[in-house]
This record gives sequence, structure tokens and C-alpha cells, in this order.
Amino acid sequence: MSIGQAISRLDGSRKVTGRAKYTADVEVEGALHAVLVPSTVPSGTIAAIDAAPAEDAPGVVRVFTHLNTPKLAEMTNPPAGQTIMPLQGDRIFYEGQPVAMVIADTLERATEAARRVQVTYRNEPFATDFIAGLDRAEARPLFGLPPDSSVGDIEAALSGTNVRVESVYGTADRHHNPMEPAAVTALWQDGRLEVYDAVQGVVDTRNTLALALQMEPQNIRVRNDFVGGGFGCKGWLWPHEVLAALAARELSRPVKLVLTRAQSYTSHGYQPASRQTVTLAARSDGALTGIRHQSVLAGSLSGDHVEPSGWGTPALYASPATQATHRVVRLNRGNPTPMRAPLEGVGLIAVEIAMDELAYELGIDPLALRLRNYTEIDPAEGKPFSSKKLRECYAEGARRFGWSSRTVEPRSMRDGRNLIGQGMATALFRTFRSPAKVRIGLDQSGEVLIETSTQEIGTGVYTIFPQIAADVLQMPVERVSLSLGDTNLPESPMNAGSRATLSTGSAVQDAAAKLKAKLAEAGATTPDGYAEAVARQGVDRIEAEGDWTPPEEATHAMYSFGAIFAEVGVDEDIPIPRVRRVVGVYNAGRIINPKTARSQMTGGVVWGIGQALLEKSEMDQQHGRFLSKNLAGYLVPVNADVPEIDVSFVDDFDEHVGPLGARGIGELGAIGVGAAIANAVFHATGIRVREVPIRPEHLL
Ligand code: MOS
Repeated sequence: MSIGQAISRLDGSRKVTGRAKYTADVEVEGALHAVLVPSTVPSGTIAAIDAAPAEDAPGVVRVFTHLNTPKLAEMTNPPAGQTIMPLQGDRIFYEGQPVAMVIADTLERATEAARRVQVTYRNEPFATDFIAGLDRAEARPLFGLPPDSSVGDIEAALSGTNVRVESVYGTADRHHNPMEPAAVTALWQDGRLEVYDAVQGVVDTRNTLALALQMEPQNIRVRNDFVGGGFGCKGWLWPHEVLAALAARELSRPVKLVLTRAQSYTSHGYQPASRQTVTLAARSDGALTGIRHQSVLAGSLSGDHVEPSGWGTPALYASPATQATHRVVRLNRGNPTPMRAPLEGVGLIAVEIAMDELAYELGIDPLALRLRNYTEIDPAEGKPFSSKKLRECYAEGARRFGWSSRTVEPRSMRDGRNLIGQGMATALFRTFRSPAKVRIGLDQSGEVLIETSTQEIGTGVYTIFPQIAADVLQMPVERVSLSLGDTNLPESPMNAGSRATLSTGSAVQDAAAKLKAKLAEAGATTPDGYAEAVARQGVDRIEAEGDWTPPEEATHAMYSFGAIFAEVGVDEDIPIPRVRRVVGVYNAGRIINPKTARSQMTGGVVWGIGQALLEKSEMDQQHGRFLSKNLAGYLVPVNADVPEIDVSFVDDFDEHVGPLGARGIGELGAIGVGAAIANAVFHATGIRVREVPIRPEHLL
């Protein structure tokens, strides 16, 4: 039984010895290098562009501007990261928008020549300030769906109640910052395009690239062996990928383009800032009667992303009435995009701080208030949850954390000079499922190879898919390997929204079962007979294809859950909140590998610490640009910020979500942590901060 085993990453040694090839590591003979020239202004038009000084520089092969770049198709967002395609006109929508692309024989020469492109702008007034723009927030669709949703009569619920809390909460613009920058190498041969691309979905990238370049998808191949983190910014198709492919086509030479760290702050999205008004109404016994969650999100003029921060709210608690609304302020900045964790990762900060405020208003323990409003049925869909062991998560989390010894009053716990605060929150993340196909084969030496187009973005796919197949075939996991990251392989979905394990993993399981049946037909009833059976057939390998398609109509509401408990210490004189420990107990169906799963959740908690206390992309409103486009100016948690993190699972088999019994975990880890920390800061200091990141200045 290899499912459920805490196996170390099978790709671990490749990653730590430098043998793992990332996209920028791919060396292609004769490749040219592309460097982008970003707009230095956020709004206006290009009055003049002089490429001659760059064209005359040593080693330069071509300079593309809006004056000589072929026409690209118009795009929708999604599947494109933005609607504005690069170098298609003289209009500037955001600072950082590519205005030229220089192609040269070396990266250094392309970089130098890019500096020589002379651009004169006709500046126009711009709006980059989200807060200043709140009064012109508009209702626009979210992923094609209406921006508002409602269960029950919210107005009646809010007016006729005993207790009501209402506050405004804020979250900041945040950037993904994966270790591996976006990188692409495009090769053009005989009307066919081959692209090495650091993306979370090779198939989606192929299909969207085909739309942009007006090609047949089967004439494009997209590949990657390893992706050094994506977190959402490598999900949809962005301009740099289109430009590299286009340059390769125009020049009939391979073209490599790697974004600089600074360019990654303007080139593939970010999590948009939000203002969220939450109104909670309850009876004096704590039973919620209404939840209203009104979100306003930062948006752009270059795309349509509206972060669905309120989508998960109606599923949280047993409230008879819930309303979630979304508005967007369109600004002169790059388009935002999903970022770990999207949806509930943005929305629950507000709702779960509001729940803490309600608990204090009612004089009810915050955990008891959650339990008072526990629901076995999703009030939004009126369906039972496929499986929900959140009650067990709360109990186990409270036990591990020692919640019962917490004293209720703010400022009532201390450790020397430190005020100690303890807070908790609920985490919930909806389940995304997609169809997947897998091929599997066993050769004469008894080695198994799984083949599917999915990609390894750092989550453990190279380990857990072999585990799933080994489990079915009753073989040692070391004898199973995985070939992935290639659109020539059977199609599986994007690694986003925590869908890979349950979707593609289910297809791996199906393929392995079919292979096992074929081996049995060939006379091998036990694993020791597999290799011989292949030899007896006189073939190199016996192969099987498997797939999984989620049913169209879901009988159940599907969410993963967690209970998060956090402790902070705040020095009385220098009020820098420090996280002292975090306990997270999660329920996500069956856990395939407790070790890689724990890594996922631990990483998620670190993201949550960043969201709560550190991460904020400041806008320079005078120049209309993100201020610090580097890891020195953008604060992320370092080891000294990360305390003891105690992650565990309430394991179960979710029979409704898919044949593997597993739901998603990746995004879940980054949810609830921010609110638990904010609630702990209130408990420590008595100061209710309704905005993250919480900085010392909030506590003075
Ligand atoms: Mo995740 S934000 O869907 O990569």
C-alpha cells in the first residue's frame, strides 16, 4: 500500500543536485535572446519610438515595436492573463506594458540594446490609486458569472436581529514572486511551434497561444520538466509568451525570453487589493441570522480579472441569509490574476475577523461561535457536503494548541515584555475538478512509466502519481516513474486551484487498474510475474490508457476545510507582532502522501504569515507604478519570521469527490492563517486591526 506513505520526494535528489532542468536551463542551439522594453508611464500614447540606436547596436537581429509587429488575435481574460495583446498599438494602459522587444545574439547584447530604444510618450491622466477610486467601483462579471449572489432575504435578516457587527476590512496588493522567473524558449520549424515554457498548464498554454497566433493547437507543442513555483502567475497566457513565439516565427530562429525579477512585478499579474465590508447579524445565543459580504477589488484596464473574494462565504456557516457582492475599480495597472490563495484566501480574512468581533460582542468563545453555526449542508447550494470533518479539525486543533487555557480578555496573557495573543479562524476552499487522461506502461524489466501532460510546479506530482500507480499495481514505488510537462502526452489539466491530485490522480489510478487487468490477461496475477508476462507477449511493453471525467451534475457541495490557531507575541514598547506558533488541522479527504501534503500546508501557512504581517506591494501614486520591484523591497517571511508550524490532517475518504477519495490541499494552507493571526493580535493588544498586513504603526 503506497498511498498514505510519507515517501520523500522521488525528484528530491535531482532538485538539490542541479540536475532538475527548469525552463531557462534549456539550451537550444543557435537561440537568440529577447529582452522587453517596458513602458515607463502608466497612461497615454507612444508619440514616437526610435528603434534605430538599438538596431545599430552589436549583435542585434531585430527590434519589434507596435509599428512592425504582426497582428495578433483579440483575447479574452481568461484564458489570456489580460485582454490587451502586446505591441498591437500605441496606447499605454499600464506601467510595465511592453513597448518594444529587442532580439540579439546574446542576452547581454539584447539587454544593452534594449536601453537604447528611444520612446517618447504623450502622457495622459491616470488612475492607479485603488482607495481614491472606490467611489467609481463598477459591477462586472466574475469569470462570466454575475457579481452578486444571494441566499435568503438578507435585508430582513439584517434588520430584525439582536446583535449586529459591521466593519470594513482591507487587504493589500501582493505579488507571487516564484523563485523561478517566467521563462520561455520558442522554436519554429516547418509551420510548427515548439515552446519550452514555465507554466502551470502546458495544454492551456498551447490552446491559448493557438488563439493568439491563429494557429491550430495540434501544431504547437508546449513543454517543461520542472516549474520553480507558480502560485497563479504562470496559469494564464501572458504577453511575454506570445512575443517570444512571434519573434521565433518572424525570424525563423529559436528565441529565448526570461523576465527579470523587476519585470515579473508588471508582467504576469498579482493579487489585487480589496476593501470588504462585512455585516454579521446574530441572535444573542450566537446563531447567525445574516451574513453580508461586500467586496471591492482592484482591477485593470488591460483585462477583466475580478477576484471572487466572496464566492466561498455562503458555504461557511449555517446562516439562513447570505449575500456576497463584488465590485471592481479599474485602474492603470497590469491585470491582477489568481494568487495563492485566491477566492477564500482574500475573502475569509474579512469574514473571519468579523466572526471574532461578533464573538467578543456576544461574549462567546470564538471557537464556540463557529461550532454554534456549524453546517452539514452548504446553504448556498442546499446540498450536503461531500465530506466535512471540520468539527474534528476544530477539536484536534484546539487540543494541540491548548485553546482551553486561553484567557478571554484582551491583554490578559503575557510572557515577560510580550503581550501574548491567541486567535483562531476557519479555512475553506472550494473544489475544482477537471477531466484528465493518462497513459501507463510496464516494460520487460518491470519498470512502469506514467505519461501525462501535467506539470510539476513544486507540489510533489513526481512522487504522488507513482505512489498512486504503485498502490494499484502492488509494486514498490521506486519502480514507477513519471514523464510529464508535454502537450504530446495525454491531456491533463492545469495545476491550479488545487485540482491536480484529485483530477489527474484519479486518471492515474484508472490507468493503473486497466494496466493491471491487461497484465492479468497476459497471465500475470502477481507483481513478480509482470515482467515475464510482457516478455511472453513478445512486446517491449504493455500499455493502458486511463481517464477521469467529473460528473456534470454534482450531488454534493465540495470544499476542503481547516481550523487554524495562531499565537503571537507583541512587545509592549516596540509593537512588532511576532508569530510564536501556528496549529493547522485540515480535512481534505484522503491524503496520498502525508509528507508532501504537510510540506504544502506548511508552505501555505508561511504564505498566510506573509499576508497577515508583511506582504504589500506599495504603489507609487505619483508615477503610477509599483514601487519596489524586487525581493528586497517586497517583504516575505524569512526563517526568523516563521515559528513552529504544527500541521496535521483529519484523514478520510471522500467517496463523492472522485475515485481517489482526495480533495485539494494546495491553496487551503494559505487560507485562515491571516485572520487567525489578526485575531491573535487583537487578543494580545486589544487593538482591532482590520487591514493586512498588520504593521507596527497599526499598534502604536
Ligand atoms: Mo493557484 S492561485 O490557482 O495557482
